[in-house]
Amino acid sequence: MPDPTLLALRNLHVSFRILRGEELFTIQAVRNLSFSLGRGEILGIVGESGSGKSVTTQAIPALLPANAEVSGAIYYEGRDLLKMEAAELRSYRGRKIGMIFQEPGRSYDPLQSMERVFLETLRCGDPAISRKDASEKAARLLEEAGLDNGRERLLNFPHQFSGGQLQRIGIALALAQDCELLIADEPTTALDVTIQKQIVDLLKSLRRKRNISIIFISHDIDLVADISDRILVMYGGLIMEAGPSELIASAPRHPYTAALLRASPRLGSHYSRERLVPIPGPAPGSPVTGRDSGEGCPFAPRCAEAGEDCALNLPAPSAPEGAAEGVEIRCLHRGGEPWR
Ligand SMILES: Nc1ncnc2c1ncn2[C@@H]1O[C@H](COP(=O)(O)OP(=O)(O)O)[C@@H](O)[C@H]1O
Ligand code: SF4
Ligand SMILES: [Mg+2]
Repeated sequence: MPDPTLLALRNLHVSFRILRGEELFTIQAVRNLSFSLGRGEILGIVGESGSGKSVTTQAIPALLPANAEVSGAIYYEGRDLLKMEAAELRSYRGRKIGMIFQEPGRSYDPLQSMERVFLETLRCGDPAISRKDASEKAARLLEEAGLDNGRERLLNFPHQFSGGQLQRIGIALALAQDCELLIADEPTTALDVTIQKQIVDLLKSLRRKRNISIIFISHDIDLVADISDRILVMYGGLIMEAGPSELIASAPRHPYTAALLRASPRLGSHYSRERLVPIPGPAPGSPVTGRDSGEGCPFAPRCAEAGEDCALNLPAPSAPEGAAEGVEIRCLHRGGEPWR
Protein backbone atom coordinates (compact mmCIF):
# COMPACT_ATOMS: atom_id res chain seq x y z
CA MET A 1 0.00 0.00 0.00
CA PRO A 2 1.57 3.35 -1.02
CA ASP A 3 2.52 5.62 1.83
CA PRO A 4 2.74 8.17 3.37
CA THR A 5 -0.64 9.83 3.07
CA LEU A 6 -0.64 12.84 0.75
CA LEU A 7 -4.28 13.83 0.97
CA ALA A 8 -7.01 13.10 3.52
CA LEU A 9 -10.59 14.35 3.24
CA ARG A 10 -12.55 14.18 6.48
CA ASN A 11 -16.33 14.58 6.61
CA LEU A 12 -16.42 16.83 3.57
CA HIS A 13 -19.81 18.38 3.08
CA VAL A 14 -20.66 20.62 0.12
CA SER A 15 -24.03 22.25 -0.42
CA PHE A 16 -25.25 24.86 -2.89
CA ARG A 17 -27.81 27.55 -2.20
CA ILE A 18 -29.83 28.23 -5.32
CA LEU A 19 -32.75 30.53 -5.94
CA ARG A 20 -35.61 29.10 -8.01
CA GLY A 21 -38.25 31.75 -8.52
CA GLU A 22 -38.84 33.18 -5.06
CA GLU A 23 -37.71 30.06 -3.22
CA LEU A 24 -34.23 29.34 -1.85
CA PHE A 25 -33.18 25.67 -2.18
CA THR A 26 -30.23 23.84 -0.69
CA ILE A 27 -28.65 21.08 -2.79
CA GLN A 28 -26.61 18.63 -0.71
CA ALA A 29 -24.05 17.80 -3.38
CA VAL A 30 -21.54 15.93 -1.19
CA ARG A 31 -22.19 14.46 2.24
CA ASN A 32 -19.87 13.24 5.01
CA LEU A 33 -17.24 12.18 2.56
CA SER A 34 -13.91 10.85 3.87
CA PHE A 35 -11.01 9.17 2.11
CA SER A 36 -7.22 9.15 2.08
CA LEU A 37 -4.80 9.05 -0.81
CA GLY A 38 -1.22 7.83 -0.54
CA ARG A 39 1.76 9.11 -2.52
CA GLY A 40 1.94 7.29 -5.82
CA GLU A 41 -1.57 5.93 -5.41
CA ILE A 42 -4.31 6.08 -8.07
CA LEU A 43 -7.79 6.47 -6.65
CA GLY A 44 -10.79 6.10 -8.96
CA ILE A 45 -14.12 7.82 -8.37
CA VAL A 46 -17.05 6.39 -10.29
CA GLY A 47 -20.77 7.14 -10.37
CA GLU A 48 -23.44 8.41 -12.73
CA SER A 49 -23.80 12.03 -13.68
CA GLY A 50 -24.78 14.21 -10.71
CA SER A 51 -23.40 11.87 -8.05
CA GLY A 52 -20.95 14.46 -6.69
CA LYS A 53 -17.65 13.39 -8.27
CA SER A 54 -16.66 16.78 -9.70
CA VAL A 55 -17.86 18.75 -6.70
CA THR A 56 -15.75 16.54 -4.39
CA THR A 57 -12.59 17.07 -6.39
CA GLN A 58 -13.20 20.76 -7.15
CA ALA A 59 -13.32 21.33 -3.37
CA ILE A 60 -9.70 20.16 -3.04
CA PRO A 61 -8.03 23.07 -4.92
CA ALA A 62 -10.89 25.43 -3.89
CA LEU A 63 -12.38 25.68 -7.38
CA LEU A 64 -16.03 25.62 -6.26
CA PRO A 65 -18.23 28.60 -7.16
CA ALA A 66 -19.17 31.23 -4.58
CA ASN A 67 -22.61 29.73 -3.85
CA ALA A 68 -20.97 26.57 -2.44
CA GLU A 69 -20.86 26.02 1.32
CA VAL A 70 -18.04 23.71 2.31
CA SER A 71 -17.35 22.12 5.70
CA GLY A 72 -15.14 19.34 7.01
CA ALA A 73 -11.41 19.15 6.43
CA ILE A 74 -9.10 18.60 3.44
CA TYR A 75 -5.64 17.75 4.73
CA TYR A 76 -2.81 18.04 2.22
CA GLU A 77 0.46 16.82 3.77
CA GLY A 78 -1.28 17.30 7.12
CA ARG A 79 -2.41 20.91 6.53
CA ASP A 80 -6.09 21.74 6.17
CA LEU A 81 -6.60 23.47 2.79
CA LEU A 82 -10.00 24.75 3.94
CA LYS A 83 -8.27 26.84 6.62
CA MET A 84 -5.51 28.17 4.37
CA GLU A 85 -5.21 31.83 3.30
CA ALA A 86 -6.21 32.41 -0.34
CA ALA A 87 -2.69 33.43 -1.46
CA GLU A 88 -1.07 30.29 -0.05
CA LEU A 89 -3.83 28.12 -1.47
CA ARG A 90 -3.18 29.58 -4.93
CA SER A 91 0.40 28.36 -4.67
CA TYR A 92 -0.90 24.80 -4.12
CA ARG A 93 -3.22 24.99 -7.12
CA GLY A 94 -1.24 24.20 -10.25
CA ARG A 95 2.07 23.77 -8.47
CA LYS A 96 1.22 20.87 -6.12
CA ILE A 97 -2.23 20.03 -7.46
CA GLY A 98 -2.85 19.83 -11.22
CA MET A 99 -6.18 19.26 -12.93
CA ILE A 100 -7.25 17.98 -16.33
CA PHE A 101 -10.83 17.99 -17.55
CA GLN A 102 -13.15 16.41 -20.09
CA GLU A 103 -12.90 19.22 -22.62
CA PRO A 104 -9.25 20.27 -22.69
CA GLY A 105 -9.73 22.71 -25.59
CA ARG A 106 -11.74 25.09 -23.45
CA SER A 107 -8.91 25.99 -21.10
CA TYR A 108 -6.70 27.49 -23.82
CA ASP A 109 -6.69 30.92 -25.41
CA PRO A 110 -7.16 30.16 -29.14
CA LEU A 111 -4.74 32.98 -30.03
CA GLN A 112 -1.88 31.73 -27.87
CA SER A 113 0.71 29.31 -29.22
CA MET A 114 1.60 26.35 -27.00
CA GLU A 115 5.10 27.79 -26.64
CA ARG A 116 3.57 30.85 -24.98
CA VAL A 117 1.31 28.71 -22.75
CA PHE A 118 4.30 26.70 -21.51
CA LEU A 119 6.44 29.82 -21.06
CA GLU A 120 3.81 31.38 -18.79
CA THR A 121 3.36 28.16 -16.84
CA LEU A 122 7.08 27.55 -16.39
CA ARG A 123 7.61 31.18 -15.33
CA CYS A 124 5.11 30.67 -12.47
CA GLY A 125 7.61 28.27 -10.92
CA ASP A 126 10.83 29.94 -12.15
CA PRO A 127 10.32 33.62 -13.08
CA ALA A 128 13.90 33.88 -14.39
CA ILE A 129 13.72 31.01 -16.89
CA SER A 130 14.78 32.14 -20.39
CA ARG A 131 12.55 31.64 -23.40
CA LYS A 132 15.02 29.17 -24.90
CA ASP A 133 15.28 27.06 -21.72
CA ALA A 134 11.48 27.13 -21.33
CA SER A 135 11.01 25.90 -24.91
CA GLU A 136 13.52 23.10 -24.44
CA LYS A 137 11.90 22.00 -21.20
CA ALA A 138 8.42 22.24 -22.75
CA ALA A 139 9.47 20.09 -25.73
CA ARG A 140 10.88 17.43 -23.36
CA LEU A 141 7.66 17.46 -21.32
CA LEU A 142 5.51 17.12 -24.45
CA GLU A 143 7.56 14.13 -25.50
CA GLU A 144 7.26 12.62 -22.00
CA ALA A 145 3.49 13.05 -22.37
CA GLY A 146 3.63 11.15 -25.67
CA LEU A 147 3.56 14.02 -28.22
CA ASP A 148 6.31 13.59 -30.80
CA ASN A 149 8.16 16.50 -32.43
CA GLY A 150 7.69 18.58 -29.29
CA ARG A 151 9.83 21.43 -30.69
CA GLU A 152 7.67 21.94 -33.80
CA ARG A 153 4.40 21.28 -32.00
CA LEU A 154 5.11 24.15 -29.59
CA LEU A 155 4.62 26.57 -32.47
CA ASN A 156 1.06 25.30 -33.01
CA PHE A 157 -2.17 26.81 -31.68
CA PRO A 158 -4.90 24.92 -29.76
CA HIS A 159 -7.10 24.27 -32.81
CA GLN A 160 -4.22 22.42 -34.47
CA PHE A 161 -4.38 19.58 -31.92
CA SER A 162 -6.83 16.70 -31.55
CA GLY A 163 -8.72 16.11 -28.27
CA GLY A 164 -6.28 13.37 -27.25
CA GLN A 165 -3.27 15.59 -28.02
CA LEU A 166 -4.76 18.46 -25.98
CA GLN A 167 -5.22 16.05 -23.08
CA ARG A 168 -1.52 15.11 -23.37
CA ILE A 169 -0.63 18.82 -23.36
CA GLY A 170 -2.73 19.31 -20.18
CA ILE A 171 -0.78 16.49 -18.55
CA ALA A 172 2.55 18.00 -19.72
CA LEU A 173 1.53 21.37 -18.22
CA ALA A 174 0.80 19.69 -14.88
CA LEU A 175 4.24 18.06 -15.05
CA ALA A 176 5.78 21.45 -15.91
CA GLN A 177 4.91 22.53 -12.38
CA ASP A 178 6.07 19.22 -10.87
CA CYS A 179 2.60 18.58 -9.52
CA GLU A 180 2.32 15.86 -6.87
CA LEU A 181 -1.41 15.27 -7.23
CA LEU A 182 -3.18 15.11 -10.57
CA ILE A 183 -6.96 15.30 -10.56
CA ALA A 184 -8.30 13.93 -13.84
CA ASP A 185 -12.03 14.65 -14.11
CA GLU A 186 -13.49 12.53 -16.95
CA PRO A 187 -10.31 13.13 -19.00
CA THR A 188 -11.14 10.44 -21.53
CA THR A 189 -14.92 10.78 -21.82
CA ALA A 190 -14.78 12.79 -25.06
CA LEU A 191 -12.14 10.53 -26.66
CA ASP A 192 -12.52 7.38 -28.70
CA VAL A 193 -11.68 4.04 -27.11
CA THR A 194 -8.15 3.66 -28.53
CA ILE A 195 -7.10 7.13 -27.40
CA GLN A 196 -8.78 6.56 -24.02
CA LYS A 197 -6.57 3.53 -23.47
CA GLN A 198 -3.45 5.48 -24.50
CA ILE A 199 -4.19 8.27 -22.00
CA VAL A 200 -4.85 5.73 -19.24
CA ASP A 201 -1.53 3.99 -20.06
CA LEU A 202 0.26 7.35 -20.02
CA LEU A 203 -1.12 8.18 -16.56
CA LYS A 204 -0.10 4.75 -15.26
CA SER A 205 3.44 5.20 -16.59
CA LEU A 206 3.72 8.70 -15.05
CA ARG A 207 2.70 7.31 -11.68
CA ARG A 208 5.46 4.68 -11.99
CA LYS A 209 8.13 7.13 -13.17
CA ARG A 210 7.29 10.18 -11.06
CA ASN A 211 5.35 8.66 -8.15
CA ILE A 212 2.55 11.20 -8.60
CA SER A 213 -0.82 10.54 -6.98
CA ILE A 214 -3.84 10.57 -9.25
CA ILE A 215 -7.57 10.91 -8.68
CA PHE A 216 -9.23 9.55 -11.82
CA ILE A 217 -12.93 10.27 -12.27
CA SER A 218 -15.21 8.58 -14.76
CA HIS A 219 -18.74 7.27 -15.09
CA ASP A 220 -17.18 4.16 -16.74
CA ILE A 221 -16.50 1.64 -13.97
CA ASP A 222 -14.39 -0.67 -16.17
CA LEU A 223 -12.08 2.15 -17.14
CA VAL A 224 -11.76 3.29 -13.52
CA ALA A 225 -11.02 -0.29 -12.43
CA ASP A 226 -8.32 -0.57 -15.11
CA ILE A 227 -6.33 2.43 -13.88
CA SER A 228 -7.00 2.64 -10.13
CA ASP A 229 -5.65 0.91 -7.04
CA ARG A 230 -8.80 1.72 -5.09
CA ILE A 231 -12.26 2.88 -6.10
CA LEU A 232 -14.93 5.03 -4.48
CA VAL A 233 -18.42 4.49 -5.86
CA MET A 234 -20.56 7.61 -5.39
CA TYR A 235 -24.30 8.14 -5.53
CA GLY A 236 -26.39 11.06 -4.29
CA GLY A 237 -23.29 12.80 -2.87
CA LEU A 238 -22.32 9.79 -0.72
CA ILE A 239 -19.64 7.11 -0.99
CA MET A 240 -21.72 3.96 -1.45
CA GLU A 241 -18.84 1.51 -1.71
CA ALA A 242 -15.08 1.80 -1.31
CA GLY A 243 -12.41 -0.83 -1.72
CA PRO A 244 -9.58 -2.27 -3.83
CA SER A 245 -10.34 -2.01 -7.57
CA GLU A 246 -10.14 -5.69 -8.38
CA LEU A 247 -12.70 -6.52 -5.67
CA ILE A 248 -15.10 -3.73 -6.60
CA ALA A 249 -15.02 -4.76 -10.25
CA SER A 250 -15.27 -8.53 -9.73
CA ALA A 251 -17.23 -8.96 -6.50
CA PRO A 252 -19.13 -5.76 -5.63
CA ARG A 253 -20.97 -5.70 -2.32
CA HIS A 254 -23.30 -2.76 -2.89
CA PRO A 255 -26.45 -3.00 -5.06
CA TYR A 256 -25.56 0.26 -6.81
CA THR A 257 -22.05 -0.95 -7.73
CA ALA A 258 -23.51 -4.21 -9.01
CA ALA A 259 -26.05 -2.26 -11.11
CA LEU A 260 -23.30 0.00 -12.52
CA LEU A 261 -21.27 -3.04 -13.55
CA ARG A 262 -24.27 -4.69 -15.18
CA ALA A 263 -25.00 -1.46 -17.10
CA SER A 264 -21.41 -0.98 -18.26
CA PRO A 265 -19.77 -2.13 -21.48
CA ARG A 266 -16.60 -4.15 -20.78
CA LEU A 267 -13.37 -2.23 -21.30
CA GLY A 268 -12.35 -2.28 -24.95
CA SER A 269 -15.60 -3.86 -26.13
CA HIS A 270 -17.52 -0.67 -26.81
CA TYR A 271 -18.25 -1.77 -30.32
CA SER A 272 -19.52 -5.21 -29.35
CA ARG A 273 -23.18 -6.12 -29.41
CA GLU A 274 -23.15 -6.93 -25.68
CA ARG A 275 -26.50 -5.91 -24.23
CA LEU A 276 -26.35 -3.35 -21.46
CA VAL A 277 -28.72 -3.66 -18.55
CA PRO A 278 -29.97 -0.22 -17.57
CA ILE A 279 -30.38 0.54 -13.88
CA PRO A 280 -34.13 0.34 -13.28
CA GLY A 281 -36.18 2.93 -11.41
CA PRO A 282 -37.95 6.22 -11.81
CA ALA A 283 -34.98 8.04 -13.33
CA PRO A 284 -32.79 5.60 -15.26
CA GLY A 285 -29.43 7.07 -16.08
CA SER A 286 -29.72 10.06 -13.78
CA PRO A 287 -29.40 9.65 -10.02
CA VAL A 288 -31.48 11.75 -7.66
CA THR A 289 -29.70 14.77 -6.25
CA GLY A 290 -28.95 15.02 -2.55
CA ARG A 291 -31.66 17.68 -2.45
CA ASP A 292 -34.36 15.18 -3.37
CA SER A 293 -33.09 12.28 -1.37
CA GLY A 294 -34.40 13.20 2.10
CA GLU A 295 -33.21 11.20 5.07
CA GLY A 296 -33.06 7.69 3.62
CA CYS A 297 -30.77 5.86 1.21
CA PRO A 298 -30.65 7.96 -1.99
CA PHE A 299 -30.60 4.80 -4.12
CA ALA A 300 -33.85 3.46 -2.58
CA PRO A 301 -36.18 4.52 -5.46
CA ARG A 302 -34.10 2.47 -7.93
CA CYS A 303 -32.87 -0.40 -5.75
CA ALA A 304 -34.16 -3.92 -6.29
CA GLU A 305 -33.05 -4.85 -2.75
CA ALA A 306 -34.80 -1.96 -0.99
CA GLY A 307 -36.95 -2.60 2.08
CA GLU A 308 -39.37 -0.21 3.75
CA ASP A 309 -36.69 1.07 6.10
CA CYS A 310 -34.42 2.17 3.21
CA ALA A 311 -36.39 5.32 2.43
CA LEU A 312 -36.28 6.37 6.10
CA ASN A 313 -32.76 5.58 7.29
CA LEU A 314 -29.46 6.63 5.83
CA PRO A 315 -27.11 3.64 6.11
CA ALA A 316 -23.76 4.33 7.79
CA PRO A 317 -20.56 3.09 6.15
CA SER A 318 -19.58 -0.33 7.48
CA ALA A 319 -17.39 -3.31 6.57
CA PRO A 320 -19.52 -6.17 5.22
CA GLU A 321 -19.08 -9.53 6.95
CA GLY A 322 -16.21 -11.52 5.50
CA ALA A 323 -15.09 -8.68 3.19
CA ALA A 324 -11.41 -7.98 2.52
CA GLU A 325 -9.70 -5.19 4.43
CA GLY A 326 -10.57 -1.73 3.17
CA VAL A 327 -13.99 -2.66 1.76
CA GLU A 328 -16.84 -0.54 3.11
CA ILE A 329 -20.40 -0.10 1.93
CA ARG A 330 -23.41 2.02 2.85
CA CYS A 331 -26.34 -0.36 2.74
CA LEU A 332 -28.95 -1.58 5.23
CA HIS A 333 -29.48 -4.96 3.58
CA ARG A 334 -26.30 -6.12 1.89
CA GLY A 335 -24.03 -7.20 4.72
CA GLY A 336 -23.25 -10.63 3.32
CA GLU A 337 -22.13 -12.22 0.08
CA PRO A 338 -20.72 -10.20 -2.83
CA TRP A 339 -22.53 -10.06 -6.19
CA ARG A 340 -20.81 -11.95 -8.97
N1 LIG B 1 -22.67 25.45 -9.11
C1 LIG B 1 -23.64 24.63 -8.72
N2 LIG B 1 -24.81 25.12 -8.24
C2 LIG B 1 -25.79 24.29 -7.84
N3 LIG B 1 -25.71 22.94 -7.88
C3 LIG B 1 -24.58 22.39 -8.35
C4 LIG B 1 -23.49 23.20 -8.80
N4 LIG B 1 -22.48 22.38 -9.21
C5 LIG B 1 -22.93 21.11 -9.01
N5 LIG B 1 -24.18 21.13 -8.50
C6 LIG B 1 -24.99 19.95 -8.14
O1 LIG B 1 -24.23 19.10 -7.32
C7 LIG B 1 -24.50 17.73 -7.60
C8 LIG B 1 -23.21 17.00 -7.91
O2 LIG B 1 -22.67 17.51 -9.13
P1 LIG B 1 -21.31 17.00 -9.76
O3 LIG B 1 -20.28 16.82 -8.71
O4 LIG B 1 -21.00 17.93 -10.87
O5 LIG B 1 -21.71 15.57 -10.35
P2 LIG B 1 -20.81 14.57 -11.20
O6 LIG B 1 -20.76 13.30 -10.40
O7 LIG B 1 -21.58 14.38 -12.48
O8 LIG B 1 -19.47 15.18 -11.42
C9 LIG B 1 -25.50 17.74 -8.76
O9 LIG B 1 -26.78 17.59 -8.21
C10 LIG B 1 -25.31 19.10 -9.36
O10 LIG B 1 -26.50 19.54 -9.97
S1 SF4 C 1 -29.84 0.73 1.84
FE1 SF4 C 1 -31.61 -0.22 0.90
S2 SF4 C 1 -32.05 1.05 -0.93
FE2 SF4 C 1 -29.99 1.55 -0.23
S3 SF4 C 1 -28.70 0.25 -1.46
FE3 SF4 C 1 -29.07 -0.85 0.46
S4 SF4 C 1 -30.87 -2.14 0.03
FE4 SF4 C 1 -30.75 -0.61 -1.61
MG1 LIG D 1 -18.55 15.71 -13.23
